[in-house]
Amino acid sequence: MTLLQIPRPEAAPNIPATLELTVVIPTFNERENVAPLILRLGKALEGVSWQAIFVDDNSADGTAEVVKVIGARDPRIACLHRIGRRGLAGAVIEGIMASAAPVVAVIDADLQHDETILPRMLKLIQSDAADLVVGSRYLAPEGAKIGLSPLRLAGSRLATWIARRVLRADVTDPVSGFFMIRRSLFERVGPKLSPQGFKILFDIIASQPKPLRIVETPYVFAERQAGASKLDGRVVIEYLGLILSKFSRGLIPPRALLFGLVGSSGVIVHLLVLALCRRLGFAFVGAQEMAAVVAMTSNFLINNQVTYRDRRLRGLSLLTGYFRFCALCGLGLIANVAIADLVHHWTPIWWLAGAAGALFGAVWNYVSTSLAVW
Ligand code: GDD
Ligand code: MN
Repeated sequence: MTLLQIPRPEAAPNIPATLELTVVIPTFNERENVAPLILRLGKALEGVSWQAIFVDDNSADGTAEVVKVIGARDPRIACLHRIGRRGLAGAVIEGIMASAAPVVAVIDADLQHDETILPRMLKLIQSDAADLVVGSRYLAPEGAKIGLSPLRLAGSRLATWIARRVLRADVTDPVSGFFMIRRSLFERVGPKLSPQGFKILFDIIASQPKPLRIVETPYVFAERQAGASKLDGRVVIEYLGLILSKFSRGLIPPRALLFGLVGSSGVIVHLLVLALCRRLGFAFVGAQEMAAVVAMTSNFLINNQVTYRDRRLRGLSLLTGYFRFCALCGLGLIANVAIADLVHHWTPIWWLAGAAGALFGAVWNYVSTSLAVW
């Protein structure tokens, strides 16, 4: 039987027979929110031919099970149950790639986004008034005040400000997790997107070869109903990495930039420990050795927690990884000195020779540890 001969399920009278919209819903420990969200989507999207793909990262609370139980009765509901992976952006990417609808929407599972504006968003795309519609918390007068604490509000405003500078697009909420896009326009940038972090929308806009026609629709960001937010300090750091990577026009991967950022923090740790050891009366060389070991250890641990969060080493592999990291960075240091010495033979500019050595050492450390440690 060919694909075209597979009989179509009987469509309800006022619902178009071909799929119009896929709603992608990333979930991590959102068990309580699944059923209410599906009910709300059903009400909001009456008359639209839609489906929902929940993308769950094997939540411990059994979110995927709940989705599958509902999916067994309601064929519009599917669960992409990912194992061994974590990450909001990656979940959204895979959910959209699994869609066959011409238009896809992304919405949080925790009922903070207002699903009742989905039909308006869909009209904008179907009537070709927009390629991308963004639900914005900052267009409505009180849009973000309810769902965000004052600290989160300030942080979010700062993130928005930076993103607008980098994107050069007039979007009031470029880090929104609530948007709708033509699937073809997503797919053409899919391979360039970073699966880490929260800022998938920012990444989609920044990666486009030609600017998208973007329309924003206001909504009020509601308070979370059940469960807890997963946005934390590490997510913020990942965001900075993504922005810097976009500044380099994607030449430098976000992970390399994070690695570099962590390396710079190592310099500070080094100097602090050096000062402390001197105070405690260590001889200079001993103090310098001590500082180097502490800085290397802190670099390793922070990289493990932040840069390679999705591949975090634990238990015994944390220990073997640490030894490998130290050995590779030790080699990097030897290469650093050798290169600097070589360059110094060609040029009397001491800082150029030093910088060349340091750059080579840093690249070596990044490449070798990314291959052999994480
Ligand atoms: N599959 C998967 N994997 N889903 C995840 C993960 C993950 O690692 N982390 C978070 N999610 C899901 C949550 O279950 C929720 O449905 C949605 O992604 C948003 O996560 P929250 O933890 O509720 O984020 P928030 O409300 O604090 O952040 C909001 O504002 C950000 C910008 O300030 C969201 O709207 C974000 O999308 C937005 O970027
Ligand atoms: Mn939320």
